[in-house]
Amino acid sequence: MTARIIGTGSALPNRVITNDDLAKIVDTSDEWISSRTGIRSRHISDAEETAAVLAARAGQKAIENSGIQKDEVEMILVATCSAEDYFPNLGCQVQNMLGMEHTVGMDLNAACSGFLFSLNTAFAYIKAGIYKTILVIGTETLSKIVNWKDRSTCVLFGDGAGACVIRAEETGVLDFVQHSDGSMGHVLTAKASSTETPVQPETGADPIYMDGQAVFKFAVKKVPECIEEILERNHLDKEEVSCFILHQANKRIIQSVAKRLKLSEEKFPVNLEGHGNTSAASIPLLLDDLNREGRLHKGDKLILSGFGAGLTWGATLLEW
Ligand code: UT7
Repeated sequence: MTARIIGTGSALPNRVITNDDLAKIVDTSDEWISSRTGIRSRHISDAEETAAVLAARAGQKAIENSGIQKDEVEMILVATCSAEDYFPNLGCQVQNMLGMEHTVGMDLNAACSGFLFSLNTAFAYIKAGIYKTILVIGTETLSKIVNWKDRSTCVLFGDGAGACVIRAEETGVLDFVQHSDGSMGHVLTAKASSTETPVQPETGADPIYMDGQAVFKFAVKKVPECIEEILERNHLDKEEVSCFILHQANKRIIQSVAKRLKLSEEKFPVNLEGHGNTSAASIPLLLDDLNREGRLHKGDKLILSGFGAGLTWGATLLEW
């Protein structure tokens, strides 16, 4: 018995901010942002579009897409690192918004690897026979903690949510690998109120700090490594994998991973042009795009791979 993704959904804030819009508030240009990252625009939430609201919208769509009744869901597991509240957790907020009082709700924070780690956690619960049906959501409103005066980070991120329903079935998730390196945690941080960094008066939050080049180097090394690790231990040739769904941080990272694995870039779909880096939401947003465009076929072997703050990284092999 394993666990299969049976439905996907996503939600994006209404407001779209282009690179040209950003060039009006920081010293940047469409040329710099698009050539260095591949990003052209991103969705930015307003006060009402909280991480929980986006999560609930994406979750609702995933339930509809799966064809199950919401009463069949036993757990809501939400990946996020930018929720507006320390508590109640977003799983409980989504439970309340969608009227799913019989479920258990909780959150998981592994930054941009959060959705992948949550999917793996849901798979483990199902494989252990504890639950049969779990709603897994990745949701972020990083725009609310980003420093809008720091051009090196504010141009990168976008808001949104993606979700999937995963259910006990004979085929589906086949294996996963997960890794962390806390000794490198300092290269990508968002500190809660502390005495070390001044709290931003506008938002009450501390700005995100990122050593972009260190994160870039980490990603282009560790992502191919963990993909090779999962292929090897499942005796699978990389050519047998139809599609590699990577965390959407930077188009150059994705191209570099394809090159290192000696694979065609066509196997690495990209949707970051219109989303920016949506952290834990990026993989389920892309999964939902591909699913709704009919680009995933029953029996396809897919590898999902996430990487981010922590540092954290990993890969999940599944059959669609
Ligand atoms: O999801 C979490 C994981 N995060 C990531 O994967 C991000 C990984 N890192 C990256 O994607 C890239 O490192 C960045 C896109 C963040 C930066 O690209 P880069 O090619 O590494 O640029 P850089 O940081 O080396 O900066 C090059 C220059 C600098 O100017 P000088 O020192 O050469 O004069 C920066 O000040 O570009 C400047 N710069 C900008 N210029 C225009 C930095 N940000 C901007 C900007 N617009 N927005």
